[in-house]
Amino acid sequence: MSYSIAIDGPAGAGKSTIAKIIARKKGFIYVDTGAMYRAMALFMLRNGIKPEETDKISAKCREADITIQYKNGEQVVLLNGENVNGLIRTEEVGNMASSSSVNGDVRRKLVELQQQLAKTADVVMDGRDIGTCVLPQADIKIYLTASSNVRAKRRYNELRGKGIDCDMEQIESDIIERDHRDMTREISPLKQAEDAVLVDSSDMTIEEVADKIISLCK
Ligand code: DC
Repeated sequence: MSYSIAIDGPAGAGKSTIAKIIARKKGFIYVDTGAMYRAMALFMLRNGIKPEETDKISAKCREADITIQYKNGEQVVLLNGENVNGLIRTEEVGNMASSSSVNGDVRRKLVELQQQLAKTADVVMDGRDIGTCVLPQADIKIYLTASSNVRAKRRYNELRGKGIDCDMEQIESDIIERDHRDMTREISPLKQAEDAVLVDSSDMTIEEVADKIISLCK
């Protein structure tokens, strides 16, 4: 039986940074499910589809073949065979992903892929619905969060670090809007699984959070 660690939480809580560290320390595979939703969102944007065009999203998602490969331990997302890793980290794609991931057809397709990955390997998987829906039998479930203000500051520093000009207030209001959409959608909304451990990273360092989660695995 493969082992699985599920990490859910809102945007900017530090899920991917933490999940990568845990995967490296435990020798597990890191599965970034948000990247799959982002690849799907990129496909919709490229096809000129708007967030509110639900029927078009349902129909079009059948044409998007999303697969995952691992190169030097890094997850590579392929969209119809093209490596899109370098194209999916923009705010535009993130906001579209939050909207298109509301769609049931998009979710069914990607959840199946995620469940297949967890069957074949020990995984640390992060997202919004991993503990509640994708891997309800996960060995460890974490709900990782932080205040919207702290998350906005982290995102701001990350973007500035990349030389991207941005506005702190805009980032925080985008985060609040995205949280609201992710938490109130009809299908698999973001919420803490009953058996998940709540970790608030607002006043914790990356190492402290990673150590805490690893200690739970023992
Ligand atoms: O984690 P992220 O910012 O890369 O995710 C982008 C969007 O994808 C997020 O706003 C909601 C959606 N998502 C989801 O609905 N379910 C997941 N398991 C992961 C992401």
